[in-house]
Amino acid sequence: MSVQEVKERLVTTQVWQSVFRHRYLDSNRNRSLAVFGNVFLHLHPVKVRERSIRIRHTMCLGGLSFGLFLALVVTGVLLMLYYRPAVPQAYRDMKELEFVVTSGSFLRNLHRWSAHAMVLFVFLHMARVFFSGAYRPPREFNWVIGVLLLLVTLLLSYTGYLLPWDQLAFWAITVGTNMAQAAPVFGPSSRFLLLGGNIIGENALIRFYVLHCVVLPLAGGLLIAVHFWRIRKDGGVRPL
Ligand code: HEM
Repeated sequence: MSVQEVKERLVTTQVWQSVFRHRYLDSNRNRSLAVFGNVFLHLHPVKVRERSIRIRHTMCLGGLSFGLFLALVVTGVLLMLYYRPAVPQAYRDMKELEFVVTSGSFLRNLHRWSAHAMVLFVFLHMARVFFSGAYRPPREFNWVIGVLLLLVTLLLSYTGYLLPWDQLAFWAITVGTNMAQAAPVFGPSSRFLLLGGNIIGENALIRFYVLHCVVLPLAGGLLIAVHFWRIRKDGGVRPL
């Protein structure tokens, strides 16, 4: 049986047709339907201007930020397999990861460097959007979603800082939560809420862990989905 015949058989099976409802090749109408029915191809609007998808225009900074987010999710889940958010296990688990687990320090560094790079790329992406005036109507709502994404990115970095439970982590969170405490009106209570008490101890570690591994990634994922959907509904990337 030739490759062509195998392909033909495959695309006429019920399994294939339940996933891909339309054949791309047979007519112009079916080509559009094939694109509409595919979530990845449908990310772009029906018509895109050639100029607005030039690499020089966006420098793919938003796409790179998203790529780093995905890399962080994958490496983060792998790190969770070796890490227990408790005192003193947390610090020992980090040491085990560095010196015992195969490629453990590579995994840890991959997560750390991706996090630094994500902060940088999100910031550069925001600067690109600003300097090309892409925050102007009708994209002002997406700018607001972007500001929330920047906040989530920074909070992810901050909450991750405490998890190694070393001296650097302890004192960085001491400084950070003291800054929160200095805020007017809600300052002292927000520090208490963040730490689950008045000191940086077990309660603080578990709170930062849940924020870092569950709450903030979910919030980020949801906001990214809205961000992408909005880009499409606003007619794609703003042309120059
Ligand atoms: C996790 C963070 C973020 C991700 C993954 C992300 C992703 C993207 C992607 C893939 C695009 C398409 C064009 C491009 O690649 O430049 C885009 C466009 C856009 N982003 Fe973001 N973004 C993020 C953060 C931000 C921030 C911090 C802002 C601003 C405060 C922002 C505002 C916008 C706006 C207004 C557009 C439309 C730009 C245009 O039409 O030219 N985004 N974003």
